[in-house]
Amino acid sequence: MHESQVKIYTEDLNLFYGDNHAIKNIDIQVQENKVTALIGPSGCGKSTFLKTLNRMNDLIPYVKITGEVYLDNLNSYNDYDIVELRKRIGMVFQKPNPFPMSIYDNIAYGPRTHGIKDKAVLDEIVEKSLQSAALWVEVKDRLKQNAFGLSGGQQQRLCIARVLAVEPEVVLMDEPTSALDPLATLKIEDLVQVLKNNYTIIIVTHNMQQAGRISDHTAFFLNGEIVEYGATEEIFTVPRDKRTEDYITGRFG
Ligand SMILES: Nc1ncnc2c1ncn2[C@@H]1O[C@H](COP(=O)(O)OP(=O)(O)OP(=O)(O)O)[C@@H](O)[C@H]1O
Ligand SMILES: [Mg+2]
Repeated sequence: MHESQVKIYTEDLNLFYGDNHAIKNIDIQVQENKVTALIGPSGCGKSTFLKTLNRMNDLIPYVKITGEVYLDNLNSYNDYDIVELRKRIGMVFQKPNPFPMSIYDNIAYGPRTHGIKDKAVLDEIVEKSLQSAALWVEVKDRLKQNAFGLSGGQQQRLCIARVLAVEPEVVLMDEPTSALDPLATLKIEDLVQVLKNNYTIIIVTHNMQQAGRISDHTAFFLNGEIVEYGATEEIFTVPRDKRTEDYITGRFG
């Protein structure tokens, strides 16, 4: 694959949930300002891997992690304060999870916790984030209304806007369109294409067409390992490993 800057990389990364060895010897280099898709059958460790990148599972008592994760060449577990790391790496989940508050306050929440109080500054952040998430036009006249009044697809874009509001560098997306209808899905896919100009995006998807449409690189996970990682075009047209081929042609998973 053609290399740009490496934004995140791992070295011999392993994760155990008790005796369950969920992530095995992962060495991956994620390129900056690209979309990297993680594919593979249910239970193969995609979400677990994603969560190791912003340290969402190392505080679970029965979790053991070995190996290293680097963000911008600094060790994510040793060199970063967790608040700083989470500011740099935002996450969007499978089910839209807006906070039970207004559209405006959902977006302003993160910046406020980082100390921004000035109303004019917050107004600007709210507008800019909603613009970036392609939601502004639909909600600009109802910013004070509760976020639960939005449709599922709008809620997911709101969650993306909420992530963008704290100006992350990396956005992790765990099956962000699996709860959405085809039109809302297309909107998110278009959005991902625009966002990659400014962010590094890692997206888990079960939808092969989606991975093909939106990602530059694809990693195929199986039983906690990365079987194959490379340019999406190549993974989908000339996979090197028989197991990758079987998976993408729908023979298992
Ligand atoms: N919090 C947890 N505690 C214990 N085991 C877990 C936990 N989360 C995941 N696991 C186990 O780790 C393995 C990997 O799960 P993970 O959720 O990462 O898979 P996945 O590839 O994201 O699957 P799916 O496509 O169904 O979302 C599975 O065996 C799962 O049961
Ligand atoms: Mg998952």
